[in-house]
Amino acid sequence: MNTDRKPVAFGDLRGWLKALDAAGELQRVEGEVDWNVELGTIARLAQGAGTGPALLFNNIRDYGANARCRQVFTGGLSNARRVAMMMGLSPDAHPRELVKVGRHLLNGSVPPKIVPTGPVKENIVKGDDIDLTEFPVPQWNRSDGGRYILTYGGVVTKDPDTDVMNVGVYRGMIADKNTIPILMWRAQHIGHHVTAWQQKGHKEMPIAVAIGWEDSLSFVAGSPVPKGLCEYDVIGAVRGAPVELVKGETVDLYVPASAEIVIEGYLGIDPDSYVMEGPFAEITGYYAGDRSPKPAIRVTCITHRKDPIFRGTIEGSMPGSFSENGTCSSIMRAATAWNVLDRAGVPGVTDVWCPPVQAGVNIVVQIKQSYRGQAKQVANALWGSSAGHVRYKLVTVVDDDIDIHDYAAVDWAIAYRVNAGEEDIVIMPGTFGLGLDPSTRKRDRNTSLYGTGKWNRVLIDATMNLDYDPDPDFGGARFPPLVTPAPDDIAAAKKRWSELGLDKKK
Ligand SMILES: Cc1cc2nc3c(=O)[nH]c(=O)nc-3n(C[C@H](O)[C@H](O)[C@H](O)COP(=O)(O)O)c2cc1C
Repeated sequence: MNTDRKPVAFGDLRGWLKALDAAGELQRVEGEVDWNVELGTIARLAQGAGTGPALLFNNIRDYGANARCRQVFTGGLSNARRVAMMMGLSPDAHPRELVKVGRHLLNGSVPPKIVPTGPVKENIVKGDDIDLTEFPVPQWNRSDGGRYILTYGGVVTKDPDTDVMNVGVYRGMIADKNTIPILMWRAQHIGHHVTAWQQKGHKEMPIAVAIGWEDSLSFVAGSPVPKGLCEYDVIGAVRGAPVELVKGETVDLYVPASAEIVIEGYLGIDPDSYVMEGPFAEITGYYAGDRSPKPAIRVTCITHRKDPIFRGTIEGSMPGSFSENGTCSSIMRAATAWNVLDRAGVPGVTDVWCPPVQAGVNIVVQIKQSYRGQAKQVANALWGSSAGHVRYKLVTVVDDDIDIHDYAAVDWAIAYRVNAGEEDIVIMPGTFGLGLDPSTRKRDRNTSLYGTGKWNRVLIDATMNLDYDPDPDFGGARFPPLVTPAPDDIAAAKKRWSELGLDKKK
């Protein structure tokens, strides 16, 4: 691959913080901040539209000198510059470059290395000593159902037949000192595992969560890595070195040896054991994911480093405020889609982008058309892939003269190349989809009943319609010529620019 990528193994969260600091990307907050709503409010306001710094809160109310944990880190990946750094690219790399590199990384594999022990074993807490509230877990938003301890951790589970582990990001709330109900959808890989363990007659499934390590952990765990490929292998590819893993104390699962905090336990997969969870300020920017009984982790052990740093994230992108998930999704959901299209054999894809404000729920694909129906092939491939489960609701396809990183260009193509009467708008009703989307009726978002959400998907084919006849009046093209002046006319006008006083501000 043609790129100047220099993969970096930062070592752990602390190494990543050092790199961010050196790059001027880290803001330390030394004044006392309340974990209860204030920290989350600051995090949301600070993130901006992909412009905010990473934040390290060093002074948290109720978590002073003698606390088990005293610091909270958030926002590590809330702008494209830091995602570029994580990928081993220049912070100035264009997001288009990140998508291209992301494609390569998400297919990569450097297998992990098992080591006997590591810093995460410096403290081991079991039994009655377990108390999740000893960590400065924020009440991120006032109307959240509780304190969300799992927002950006790597949740590890395994397939009971193959033993292949999966690492995903799934939200989880403190219900009491050793119980964490989580949001689990059947169509996610953790859901596949739940189904497999249930079919074997189990009522619980082993689970471990690594909180705080190199941010590639959260980035990759939040990405739809193909089933059967373990995220640890992909993280190894991102950092160019194997992830060192240690075995859990109470579960047969592996976690990064230098993680800040690891929570081990068993996930109750018998509906009778479900625990109330939600609501939560979600990816959509709405309070979604209503309060309902969910599978819960019965925590059996916590291991952590000396003076551990808690890692979390504020969810929910909105105009003017992009979350880490929104920023990362804009890159890896586009990269994933491009790989899906490649694997499906869709030719002519020249660019793919998911603007961060909607985290890849909608996607724009640029193609060089060579035959009729190519845009529909794009949409069908995306909607038929497992990666399309919680993304790609609205697919816009444009020609290769449209810069898909320019909203105005895409909007212009939609205005003048889309004709609903010519099959340019296609609706695919009743598909699986994001159970958090408020545009779906509430009853259709009942994931306990249906296993997942429900989306009616839309293709906007904003390419020039190849069904139209080539027009001799347009020199054999299907669309009229653009009003852009001819190159000679432009050159002649530019020559007179200064003589006519057009280079001076009025
Ligand atoms: C901050 C954040 C929170 C997320 N919360 C959830 C969640 O609660 N439940 C869920 O199924 N997916 C959630 N996701 C999305 C999954 O992490 C993502 O779809 C990932 O691909 C899942 O891993 P898997 O492909 O191995 O299933 C979240 C992602 C991020 C980045």
